Amino acid sequence: MEKKRVLSCIQPTGNMHFGNYFGAVKNWVKMQESYECYYGVVDYHSMTMPYQPDKLRQNTWDLIFNLMAVGINPEFLFIQSLVPEHAELSWIFNCFTPYGRLMQMTQFKDKSATATDDGFVSAGLLDYPVLQAADILIYRADYVPVGKDQDQHLELTRTIAQRFNNQVGKEYFVLPEGLHSDTPKIASTADPLRKMSKSAGEKHSINVFEDSERIRKQIRSAVTDAGDQPAGEMSLGVQNLFELIKAGENMTAYTSLMEDYNAENLKYVDLKAAAAETLVALSEQFREKRAELLANKKDVKNQIKASSAEIRKRAQETIREVKELTGLMNVKF
Ligand code: TYM
Repeated sequence: MEKKRVLSCIQPTGNMHFGNYFGAVKNWVKMQESYECYYGVVDYHSMTMPYQPDKLRQNTWDLIFNLMAVGINPEFLFIQSLVPEHAELSWIFNCFTPYGRLMQMTQFKDKSATATDDGFVSAGLLDYPVLQAADILIYRADYVPVGKDQDQHLELTRTIAQRFNNQVGKEYFVLPEGLHSDTPKIASTADPLRKMSKSAGEKHSINVFEDSERIRKQIRSAVTDAGDQPAGEMSLGVQNLFELIKAGENMTAYTSLMEDYNAENLKYVDLKAAAAETLVALSEQFREKRAELLANKKDVKNQIKASSAEIRKRAQETIREVKELTGLMNVKF
């Protein structure tokens, strides 16, 4: 039987943090065993906010090494700009996208509100979810493992696929389904009311490759009681620390601390120590793996260029069929 297809992507904006890892990337690693997988570092997406060109290229490679260090097989990895058909399909999809829906996207509203001083908001930021739909549909993905913050984008992808199918009179695109991990929404330890995020500022994310002392320090200063929950309910900060322990599969600590909580004698210092050690253990292992990969930088880069070229062939097949279906021209070689 043919394997089902999985696609997911990550932006090369800053480092990979534990929200990315526990919310999505850990699932990517797991799914490699039984699915046909496509995992992209989406550099076209990172141009939608103000950025520096030389930093973008550096971040893209850094993220490739990081993804491989946590266990992604390089054969499944590609760099989006090495598969320019994503941008081509995105244009075609623009013509099947109700633009009003783009204006309503939470991410657009949030990010356009934090525009630069001169008030510049790019059309690319508005169009961002259409490119994301192209990323997903170009490989005809069945499943998309993502964090909870991507649900709205997934919903729009399904709308675009459906509208396209209706227009061409054929169920050409499968409607993809989002998949969540057990911890699809990791909060910032500095402010548990917001999600862990690289764009919100340094203290709002913990880098997966951070040195152990800094991880301990960040967790030590985690906010536990921000008065965000009614009395008697677990505060969001404490919930988040438990989530981190669970996501890191430190179940002995999790069970015993939860017993303490239920017996009303949980000490935050113990909870924080367990959360910190859970992350440190993972991080040490990942840093070691990354150092090995960095010792063969050139080989890894060549490998990724080759896998991107291979994956591009799939994207080209879809584009050829889409152009046939939509009345565009195909060059015959
Ligand atoms: P990005 O780069 O912000 O994040 C990559 C993945 O990490 C998840 N994530 C989180 N999960 C749980 N808790 C958090 N605090 C947290 N922060 C991030 C995200 O949900 C995501 O799965 N728009 C996407 C990139 C993208 C994409 C795609 C994803 C472009 N094309 C096609 C899937 C399919 C984004 O900005 O992810």
